[in-house]
Order: sequence, then C-alpha cells, then structure tokens
Amino acid sequence: MKRIAVAVSGTGSLLAAMLEQGLPIDLVLADRSCKGVNEVPKGYGIPSVLIPRTDYSPAFNRDAYTQQVIAKLREYQVDLLVMAGFMTVFSERMFQPETYQNAVTNTHPSLLPAFKGEKAVADALEFGVKWTGCTIHWATPKLDDGPILAQEVVPVIEGDTVDTLWERIKGVERTLYPQVIRQVANIAPVTRAA
Ligand code: GRF
Repeated sequence: MKRIAVAVSGTGSLLAAMLEQGLPIDLVLADRSCKGVNEVPKGYGIPSVLIPRTDYSPAFNRDAYTQQVIAKLREYQVDLLVMAGFMTVFSERMFQPETYQNAVTNTHPSLLPAFKGEKAVADALEFGVKWTGCTIHWATPKLDDGPILAQEVVPVIEGDTVDTLWERIKGVERTLYPQVIRQVANIAPVTRAA
C-alpha cells in the first residue's frame, strides 16, 4: 500500500473528510500555519509538519521550497502526495522520475480547464455559468493543469454566493477525492456494516 501525505494551506475540511472516512494518511504537511495542520490532524496520531513559505513575492524560490518538501516526503517514505487546498505550486523538480513523477494529485473547484486559479468559484459565478464542479487531476508544475482523474458536475443555483456554491462543490470533493485516492493508492474501500 502506498504511503500518503496530504498537503494543506487552509481550513482542511477535505483532509478532515479523508480522516473521517478512514483513509490511511501517514503525514500532513502545510506551507503556512492553518487549521488544516494545527487542528484537523489532532487525535489521529499522524505527524504534522509545517514547511513555512515566507516569500509570496515573484522572487519566491520555488525550487528551493520544492526541494525542502521533497526531503520531508522522503524522510517519511511517502509515495503519494495529495494536495487538498494546498496553495503553492511546486517546481519541475517535484515531477521528475527520481522524485514524485505521477505521484502528486490535486483537486480544484471548477471543471478544468475552465476557471483555473485561486478565484475559480468567484470567476465561474461572475461568468454566469449554470453548471460548474470539481476536477481531481495529476499535478504538474503548471497551475491547475495535468491529466484528469475525475470530475463531477455541480449546479449553480439562483441566489448562490461564492460561499454557498463553494460549499456545495466541497461537499462533492469530500466524497470524490477520497475515492480517487483509494483507487490511485490501491486501497480497498471501507465497507460499513448495514
Ligand atoms: C477545495 O475546494 C479545493 O478544490 C481547493 O481548496 C479547497 C480546499 O478546502 N483547492 P479545505 O481547505 O479543505 O476546506
């Protein structure tokens, strides 16, 4: 079975769903202090590490940061890195045959290739789409790019705000993303007693 790390930058509600659904997670890592790393993993006995990203300017040394993350993943013998609301794009170094090529996944709250970037939900709403959704994909050094693993459609409802629509999308991600990770990591689904 593959060893899994989950990378977070925010509230970590997708991570919480993965933990509640019994996904075996070996490491939680974050690029900033956030609920996802400080609170969500508590009580699960999972190591949580903060690799702080201190530079948000264009001069950010993405490659050096990526190197730090790779070193941590190796320390914990991680095979699969699951980005769940993680806000830093890794450099090419992450995706080499000798590093984590075809071993990093991401989820994005739109039907890619539409509405890439941080404001995906607001942009979709502003554009006036009637349907949006989420995309789970292999990550690459390009933002919200890479081969698609799964997508699910979510309707936009009259009166939706960014918050209501995003929450509806996350509701889908909380089920779909763990399912995809189980497939990718060869983990049998949890069977619950009736
Ligand atoms: C998700 O909608 C994901 O698609 C996006 O960030 C959100 C993560 O939410 N990249 P949370 O921090 O897990 O609540």
